[in-house]
Amino acid sequence: MHFRLRDIRLALIFSSIVHSSQAQCPDYTTYSQTPHDPVSTGPLALPFMRPTPACRTFNSSAVEKVIMDMKSLMKDPDLARLFENTFPNTLDTTVKYFSESENLAFIITGDITAQWLRDTANQFAHYHSLLAVDPKLATLVKAVINNEARYVSQYPYCGAFQPPPESGLAPSHNDWADGVKVNPPVSNQTVFECKYEIDSLCGFLKLSGSYYQATKDSSFMNTNWRSAIDQIFRVINEQSQGTFDENFNFISYYNWTGGGGSLSPMVNNGGNGEPKAYTGLVGTHHRPSDDLSIFAFLTPANAMLSVELTKLANVLDSVGDLRNVSQQAKTWSSRISDAIYKTTIVDNIFAYETNGLGSRYVMDDANVPSLLSLPYLGFLNKTHPAYIATRKLLLSRGNPYFAAGKSFNGIGGPHVDPWNPWPMAHISAIFGTDNDQEIMQHLYLITNNTNGLGLIHESQSIYNSTSYTRSWFAWANSYFAEMILDLADRKPGLILKQNKSYKPGQP
Ligand SMILES: *[C@@H]1O[C@H](CO)[C@@H](O)[C@H](O)[C@H]1NC(C)=O
Ligand SMILES: *[C@@H]1O[C@H](CO)[C@@H](O)[C@H](O)[C@H]1NC(C)=O
Ligand SMILES: *[C@@H]1O[C@H](CO)[C@@H](O)[C@H](O)[C@H]1NC(C)=O
Ligand SMILES: *[C@@H]1O[C@H](CO)[C@@H](O)[C@H](O)[C@H]1NC(C)=O
Ligand SMILES: *[C@@H]1O[C@H](CO)[C@@H](O)[C@H](O)[C@H]1NC(C)=O
Ligand SMILES: *[C@@H]1O[C@H](CO)[C@@H](O)[C@H](O)[C@H]1NC(C)=O
Ligand SMILES: *[C@@H]1O[C@H](CO)[C@@H](O)[C@H](O)[C@H]1NC(C)=O
Ligand SMILES: *[C@@H]1O[C@H](CO)[C@@H](O)[C@H](O)[C@H]1NC(C)=O
Repeated sequence: MHFRLRDIRLALIFSSIVHSSQAQCPDYTTYSQTPHDPVSTGPLALPFMRPTPACRTFNSSAVEKVIMDMKSLMKDPDLARLFENTFPNTLDTTVKYFSESENLAFIITGDITAQWLRDTANQFAHYHSLLAVDPKLATLVKAVINNEARYVSQYPYCGAFQPPPESGLAPSHNDWADGVKVNPPVSNQTVFECKYEIDSLCGFLKLSGSYYQATKDSSFMNTNWRSAIDQIFRVINEQSQGTFDENFNFISYYNWTGGGGSLSPMVNNGGNGEPKAYTGLVGTHHRPSDDLSIFAFLTPANAMLSVELTKLANVLDSVGDLRNVSQQAKTWSSRISDAIYKTTIVDNIFAYETNGLGSRYVMDDANVPSLLSLPYLGFLNKTHPAYIATRKLLLSRGNPYFAAGKSFNGIGGPHVDPWNPWPMAHISAIFGTDNDQEIMQHLYLITNNTNGLGLIHESQSIYNSTSYTRSWFAWANSYFAEMILDLADRKPGLILKQNKSYKPGQP
C-alpha cells in the first residue's frame, strides 16, 4: 500500500494514535524525514535511523544478533548502515498492538495506521528464519495471522483493516474511502479500505505457510483460519468467472464505485471494471499498488497465487488435515499456472495484464507481485527464457513505466507517476539474476539514492535527487533487508568481507 507523502495532513492524523507508554516518542513519519547521528563511516555517511530503545515497538534478541553479525561481516559501512536501519524497521516501528493472551497483533504499514494483508506478509518475510530461534517473535507472527484470519473470514474482498476492538485503539478515518460504495457493503470500524486485490489473499497464505514452515506449529489453523481459507476459495471461484454467462447475464459478486476523495478513479461498468472471459486465471480489481487494473487478469498476482496454493496444499498434507482444501488448492494451482503459460505469453514476453479475449498490456509496475519479481515469488527459475526476455524488455523503454535520469532510473507505476521509479523494483531485479555486475548496479542505485536518510523510500524522482515519496514505508525496508540476507547467503563475496555464506538464525 502506498499513499503519497505529499498528503501529509492524513499522515499526521493517522499517526496521532500512540501507545500511552510511548507518548513521549517522536512520530516516526517526522523522525524519518531528517538524518540522525551517528553517521556511517563510508562516503555516503548514512544516518542512524532506529528509534531510541524505549520507543521501539517490539524487541527481539535474535534480530539484534543478526544486526551485530552483519555489521561485522559487511564490507561497505554504508550498506551495513542501511541494513542496520532497515532490518529491524517492522519491529522497531509498526507493532501497534500485540497481546499474546488474545492471540492478536495489529501491524501498521508505516505512515498510515492501518494493517494491509499484503504489506504484513512482506514486513515479516525477512524474519522467517528467526521464528525457530525466537519463540516470542513466532508468537507475534501467529497473532498477526489470527488477526488477519478474522478479517479475511469476514471481508475476503478487502485488503486493509482497522485495529481489532480488543486493542482499544480507535479506527482511523480514511479520506480516500469517502464517497466509495462497495458491494457487498463493509463496516468502516473493521475495514480501512475495501479494494479487491487478489494478492492480498496471497499475502495471508504466504504468512501462514512460512510460519508453519519455520515452526512446524499447526496451532494457527484455528476456526478463524479455516473460515478464512473457505472464503479465499469462494473469491477464487467467483472472480475466475467470465463477465457474461452463456445467456449474457452479467456476473458480479463484488463491485467498487469510487468517487469523491478516493485516490483511485471510478471503476467503470458499475464498479466491475473491464469485461473478461474465463481462462483459468483469477481476476482482480485493483493492483498491488492499490491502483485500478486495466485488465482483470494480473499475471504476477496469479503467479503468486499458484505458488501459495501449492504451499498451502503442502502444509495441509504435512499436518494431515483438510484434504478437501488441499485437493482444491492443487487443482487451482496447476490450473492457474497452465493458464499463465497458455494465455499471457506472446513471443516469449509475459503480459502484465490480460482479459482472456486477446487483449494484453505489456508493462510492469514496481510493486510486488510484479513480472520482474517472478523468481522471487517462486513461480519460475531466473534462467527461464521467457523471464529473461521479459526482464530485458521491462528494464528498457519497452516498458511504459521505465524511466532513467542522471543518478536514478528504474521501474515505477501510475501510483506516483512515470518519472518516479521505485527502489523496490531494483530489489526484485536483484532477486532475479545471478549476474554479479547487474546485482551491484541495482544495489548501488538503491544505496546512492536514499536522499541521505538511510531508509528505503517508495519512489525517487529521476529529475531531482531530493524528491522522493514516503519516508516511512516498512515493507520497502523489510524487502531491502531480505534481499541483503539473500545476497549474504547466495553471493557472499559481493557484500561480505569474506566469501563465505551467512545464514541468520543459526546457533
Ligand atoms: C524494548 O526494550 C527497551 C529497553 O531496551 C524498553 O525500554 C522498551 O519498552 C521495550 N519495548 C517493548 C515494546 O517492550
Ligand atoms: C464511518 O462511516 C460513518 C458514516 O459515513 C462516518 O460518520 C464515520 O466517521 C466513519 N468512521 C470512520 C472511522 O471513518
Ligand atoms: C454489485 O454486487 C452485488 C453483489 O454484492 C450484486 O448484487 C449487484 O448486482 C452488483 N451490481 C452491479 C452494478 O454490478
Ligand atoms: C472442506 O471440508 C470442511 C469439513 O467438511 C468444510 O467445512 C469446508 O467448507 C471444506 N472447504 C472447502 C474449501 O471445500
Ligand atoms: C534453475 O535452472 C538452473 C539452470 O538450468 C538449474 O541449475 C537450477 O537448479 C534451477 N533452479 C531451480 C530452483 O529450479
Ligand atoms: C554510487 O555512488 C558512487 C560514489 O559516488 C559512484 O562511484 C557509483 O558509480 C554510484 N553507483 C551507481 C550505481 O549509481
Ligand atoms: C527538488 O525536490 C525538492 C523536494 O520535493 C523541492 O523542494 C525542490 O524545489 C526540487 N528542486 C527542483 C530543482 O525542482
Ligand atoms: C566466491 O566464491 C565463489 C565460489 O565458491 C566464486 O564463484 C565467486 O566468484 C567468489 N566471489 C567473489 C566476489 O570472490
